[in-house]
Amino acid sequence: MQKELNNLLDHETKKYLEKTKSSLIKHKAATEVMPGGNTRTTQWMDPYPFFVDKAEGMYIHDIDGNSYLDFMLNATTLILGHANPKIVNALTSQVGEGTVYSVPTDGQTKLADILVDRIPSMDKVRFTNSGTEATMMAIMASRSFTKKTKIAKFEGGYHGTHDHVSVSVYPKKSDLNPETHPGVPEYSFQPPSILEDVIVLPYNNIDKSKELITKYKDDLSCIIMEPIISNFGYLPLDLDFIKFIRDITEELGIVLIFDEIQSFRVSRGGAQESFNITPDMTTLGKIIGGGLPVGAFGGKEEIMELFDPTSDKYDIAHAGTFNGNPLTMEAGVAVMSNLNQKEFDQMNALGEKLRHKLRSVFDEINLGVQVTGYGSLFGINFNNQKIVDYRTFIENDSGMTKILFTYLRNNGVLLQLKNAGALNVLMSEKEMDYFVDKTREISTQIKDSINE
Ligand SMILES: Cc1ncc(COP(=O)(O)O)c(C=O)c1O
Repeated sequence: MQKELNNLLDHETKKYLEKTKSSLIKHKAATEVMPGGNTRTTQWMDPYPFFVDKAEGMYIHDIDGNSYLDFMLNATTLILGHANPKIVNALTSQVGEGTVYSVPTDGQTKLADILVDRIPSMDKVRFTNSGTEATMMAIMASRSFTKKTKIAKFEGGYHGTHDHVSVSVYPKKSDLNPETHPGVPEYSFQPPSILEDVIVLPYNNIDKSKELITKYKDDLSCIIMEPIISNFGYLPLDLDFIKFIRDITEELGIVLIFDEIQSFRVSRGGAQESFNITPDMTTLGKIIGGGLPVGAFGGKEEIMELFDPTSDKYDIAHAGTFNGNPLTMEAGVAVMSNLNQKEFDQMNALGEKLRHKLRSVFDEINLGVQVTGYGSLFGINFNNQKIVDYRTFIENDSGMTKILFTYLRNNGVLLQLKNAGALNVLMSEKEMDYFVDKTREISTQIKDSINE
């Protein structure tokens, strides 16, 4: 069985090498000057990434003339598709007027207005250049506000690349303690002080989370979590679990931060609106910058006051040379003002149909696959057991995962490496059917290999 699966992967990998010869030349040149040939680990794909010629609408075109229906969408960012004329026009008119100034522009107030109006937890907002900075600032604010220093995050939760959230993000199975969830460092010689400051909780486990939160309550400034977990195929958390976290944080004076950097795309007001649970702070990124670098954090007035230099509560200097730069703000306003209830309803209904069709395929073939997701987000997991947390997610079969990804890429469908993805407003059932058909083709071959 394993040999047959390996043969399948080898066969698909050879096809990719044939199709992407110019990309290989570019990749080799890039490896001379950048480790691994790129500048963002998530850009990596085996055996090397293809290089882009251009992208328009739903498709990316590579330099070898291959086209890909893009469900990667730069990690869910491009909700209006690539090179959307509304965004291109907004950028073109701004660029001639200057790209950045050290004084404010109207664009930032306009984008802030839209976000504050839509997001239940957001009285005030500040912009950053990345989601990483947004979660970093929200954590700083929580510390200053609660006068406590530790933070809690969840095992397998990704919130960017700064040190305090880089604990137990992708721990190896062999490093996990079956009884409990001590923080596992993400790199060698991560300072032990960081690990002391970060408490790791298990998603969807009320008893264990309660025990740890109660134990550290006097030192815990915040809990940072995603309501829909990007790293586990966009698994929506159990509603009871989110409610429990909301209640216990409220009771114990711990700031609850929803990282909605990806999940904000599920409705006008994000997952917090869909689930009707309001955190104290929210972090954003991805879609709100219209395809330009962006992040934002915001929340209750009394917390955000810490950033107001005119307030007697002022405590945190939040600088950033490119924060709220006019290009990002104009692109952000263009994207957000073209995303209304109709667009969210349409994308979410299509996402529901896609998940249903994918489930039917796996049922028909009788292959152990969990189709996860919510709204316009989906994940395909080769796993016989229900996914509820990091430990169940890492039981996904890595070989089958890679075969599906590679086959789809060879057939012009681009997913994230773990076979998760997102829809954009341009997509229709036609694109879903193509994707589902290609998934059926390769999954049938996978099933046949297992039966060999
Ligand atoms: C949930 C979540 N939080 C934080 C980040 C970090 O955002 P950025 O890559 O913009 O720093 C990401 C990025 O993928 C994310 O998905």
